[in-house]
Amino acid sequence: MAARFKKTSSLRYSFATSSRQAPISLPYFTENQSQLRYVASVPVATPSNSRQPAPFSTLPLSWPHKGWDHNIASQIVPSHRPPRTISDKLAYTLIRICRWGMDFVSGMPPESPGESLAGIPGLVAGSLRHLSSIRRFAPDQGWVKTLLEESYNERMHLLTFLEIYKPGLVMRALVFAAQGVFYNTLFLAYLISPKFVHRFVGYLEEEAVHTYSRCLREMDKGLLPKWTEDKSIRIPEVAVKYWGMEGRRTMRDLVLYVRADEASHRGVNHTLGNLDQLTDPNPFIEAHATENHMVIAAVRPAGLEREEVVGKQ
Ligand SMILES: [Fe+2]
Repeated sequence: MAARFKKTSSLRYSFATSSRQAPISLPYFTENQSQLRYVASVPVATPSNSRQPAPFSTLPLSWPHKGWDHNIASQIVPSHRPPRTISDKLAYTLIRICRWGMDFVSGMPPESPGESLAGIPGLVAGSLRHLSSIRRFAPDQGWVKTLLEESYNERMHLLTFLEIYKPGLVMRALVFAAQGVFYNTLFLAYLISPKFVHRFVGYLEEEAVHTYSRCLREMDKGLLPKWTEDKSIRIPEVAVKYWGMEGRRTMRDLVLYVRADEASHRGVNHTLGNLDQLTDPNPFIEAHATENHMVIAAVRPAGLEREEVVGKQ
C-alpha cells in the first residue's frame, strides 16, 4: 500500500500507510531551527490517491526564462551561415535530408515532431562534457550549464505544445523510435566530433527559425485559423509562467517567443562550433548571471567568431 506523507508543521512530518490509519509522527529535524540536524531516515512516499505526476504548471521552474523583449523577438529573421569546411557541408547536407524527411511526414502539427527531438542535443553535449570534465579533472570552460539549459528550454517547448495538442498513438510511436535513434547517434557523433554536432545543431535551429517564421506569416495571412480563431485554444499556464506571458496570451506571442529561443540556440551552437572544444571558454556563461544570454546569441545568427571570443592568437 502506498504511503502518505504530509508536512504537519514547519519541522514535523507525518506518514501513514493508508487513509484509515492515523498518521505516525516522525521526527525529521530537531525542533531548534538554529541547529537543524537530520535525525531520521524518512521513507520515500508517493500520494496514495493518484499515480499521476503533479501538473507541470504547479512545479517550480528548474531554469526560469528571463523572458523576451517583444520587439527583439519580433525582429528575429531566418538566416543561414554558409558552410566553410567539409565538416560544415556534411552537417548542412544531413540537415537538409532530415528536413526533407520531416516534410515528408508532415500532416502532423509541425512543431511537435521536431520539438520532441530538439531537447536531445543539449543533454547529450552537456552530459558528455560533464563526464569529460570529471575524467580529465579539469573545468569544462562553462559550457555545461548553457547546454543543459538549452535542453530544458526545448523540453518546455514540447510540454507547452503538448498541453495544446495531445499526441496520438502513431505520433508517440514515431517519437519513441526517433528518440532512440537520435540520442544514440548524437552520443556517438559527439564523442567523435563535438564541433560537427554543434554545427549540425546550429543548422537544425536555422530550420526551426525558418519553420516558426513561416507559421507566423501564415497566421498573419489567416491561413492557420486553428491557431488564430479557435477560441478553445488557450495558452497553457506553464507557458505563461515560463515566458512571463501575462498580458500576451495569444498563440502568435507564444510562437514568437519559441522562435526567439530557437534563434538563440542557433547562435549558441554556431558559436560553440567555431571554438576549440577543449580550451575555449563559453562566451555566454557570464551573461547567464547578469543578463539574458539568449538575446546575445539570438541577434548573432552565424554565431560569434572564435577571434571575438578568445581574441586574436
Ligand atoms: Fe524548440
